[in-house]
Amino acid sequence: MPNKTTSSASLGEKVSPSSEFKKQATVKSMAEYKRLYAESVSDPEKFWNAQAKELLFWRKPWKQTLEWKEPQAKWFVGGKLNVCENCVDRHVGTPRENKAALIFEGEPGDQQTLTYKQLHVEVCKFANVLESRGIKKGDRIAIYMPMTCEAVVAMLASARIGAIHTVIFGGFSSESIKDRVNDCQAKLVVTADGGWRRGSVVDLKMHVNRAIQDCPTVETVVVVKRIGNTRVSMKTGRDYWYHTVMEGASHKHTAKAFDAETPLFILYTSGSTGKPKGVLHTSGGYLLGTTMTSKYVFDLKDSDTYWCTADIGWITGHSYVTYGILSNGATNLIYEGAPNYPDVNRFWDIVERHRVTIFYTAPTAIRAFMKWGDHHVKKHDLSSLRLLGSVGEPINPEAWKWYYKTIGGGRCPIVDTWWQTETGAIMITTLPGAAYSKPGSAGLPFFGVVPKVFNDAGEEVKKGESGKLVLTQPWPSMLRGLYGDRKRYKETYWSEYKGIYFCGDGCRQDKDGYFWIVGRIDDVLNVSGHRIGTAEVESALVSHGAVAESAVVGRPHELKGSAVVCFVTLKEGVEPTDELRRELREHVGEEIGAIAKPDEVRFAPALPKTRSGKIMRRLLKDIAAGREIAQDTTTLEDLNVVKALQKG
Ligand code: PRX
Repeated sequence: MPNKTTSSASLGEKVSPSSEFKKQATVKSMAEYKRLYAESVSDPEKFWNAQAKELLFWRKPWKQTLEWKEPQAKWFVGGKLNVCENCVDRHVGTPRENKAALIFEGEPGDQQTLTYKQLHVEVCKFANVLESRGIKKGDRIAIYMPMTCEAVVAMLASARIGAIHTVIFGGFSSESIKDRVNDCQAKLVVTADGGWRRGSVVDLKMHVNRAIQDCPTVETVVVVKRIGNTRVSMKTGRDYWYHTVMEGASHKHTAKAFDAETPLFILYTSGSTGKPKGVLHTSGGYLLGTTMTSKYVFDLKDSDTYWCTADIGWITGHSYVTYGILSNGATNLIYEGAPNYPDVNRFWDIVERHRVTIFYTAPTAIRAFMKWGDHHVKKHDLSSLRLLGSVGEPINPEAWKWYYKTIGGGRCPIVDTWWQTETGAIMITTLPGAAYSKPGSAGLPFFGVVPKVFNDAGEEVKKGESGKLVLTQPWPSMLRGLYGDRKRYKETYWSEYKGIYFCGDGCRQDKDGYFWIVGRIDDVLNVSGHRIGTAEVESALVSHGAVAESAVVGRPHELKGSAVVCFVTLKEGVEPTDELRRELREHVGEEIGAIAKPDEVRFAPALPKTRSGKIMRRLLKDIAAGREIAQDTTTLEDLNVVKALQKG
């Protein structure tokens, strides 16, 4: 076994951290990891009790660590804290107060740094602004922003006053904003006059204006002047410029203490049926999960400059841009724009100039950099990097090795982190100073996490066999529900196996206990690390006047992981033209957002269905991928349909 382990450029199937890294790491050895892990699962309440005391600042201690009435968990019952105070105030008045909390770089190259002390001022002011607009505990506010300091300030200010934020990714369409704002009945929207993306303006305010025509609950819109867009239209009595309201706001704000189970945010994510679901996270448990994983998985030190490339519109941006990182008092870099603007070396230029030490990104980005060529990377001094991370989809060993050698210079451990919007925090990874990595495997469970691989009958499969990944113990940062839909919460996560969380992923565990994620096994696609429900794309397509029926499947894609392939039947008399193909792509973009735009639209006279009328998706997947058809077609209603579909 040891002869296959390596710490240098000749990469085998196991890659160990260097002895220098181990020496300074928070967890320094496999033995230490194993000991802590055993403690965490043998008496979870004792373990979490101790961690919560050590890592967070509480105003009132809790009476009970966990109250578990499956599938409903309450953590730190009776305890009170303020999430924002933990992320900001507790660093003020300490040696950290003058260190950079946020370093912002805009796509055009403009920069802004906020120290913890300055961040505190901004957050207090915006908390006062929110309160002056009538926002109070439990109210929902929507945040539709570019990646700027103000976006993070808005999240923290919302948390500070006990409001619930829902961040809507800036690439989503007006329709998506409308659905989300109406679902959670937001009273206030924070947006900007625009953002920069590949040199073009993303007109965020225009999308908000369109959306909230049909959002009766919205009373106030606060608009950050990001780009100086002169065409922005403001409605008197509803819309206010951020800089104007901030000017008049006091920088003094007393943070109240809230119950540990106070809702913190709702984040919409795609499922296998219907509209996106509002995943609800609460305060104490979520903050503990994100704080602890940030500390241990990213091995955060006061001297680090940490950069996660995710947008705050996704869970990674919530947990590992805002909450977990700031709670640890780290220096956090945020970048507004695209990785290839003005050039494909922009990321490496940023790493070099800001001396970034920890870099966390998605495999889809890594594969794009590989394709663009090493010479862009080689122009830059990346010697400041000491740890790399990957998230969002399985990383193929080839991309892992490239990341390790070309970006990490063969010296930086890679943490491949498996988790989900629903889990709130990282669940499976290798602690960087403790365990060797296996390129392509997410690794081992984090403390307190008990993953297993089940077959359809709910039995654990043998090591090496594939099955469904489940989490068998409640954990502090787990979702508390789907906003306003208890039934769907139970059905989605807790009905496949009674009393056990099923995550929707296929997986296998090898003889060393390492988990290998195969990917989604439900009708959710992972496109460039983002979740897209096939049902959502299908309903967007049928909302177009020309479409009679549609079925959407994924096809393996070299860069994006999965491509979106749509099979469409048209209404009587509609001609299948290339023009219509383009129109349907655009239509999906308008209904959902550019990330969901189909890669391919295939017209078909009919869709393959069983005699009971179910669309045969596996067969469509094979057709889309150009594979031989594996599925038994004897149940197919009309065999000619397959021949027509194969022709496209
Ligand atoms: O399929 C898994 C994949 O992303 C899904 C969760 O998506 P989302 O809630 O949008 O959160 C993404 C960021 C945490 C999972 O069900 N996934 C995420 N990380 C990994 C992964 N698949 C394999 N390896 C990972 N490291």
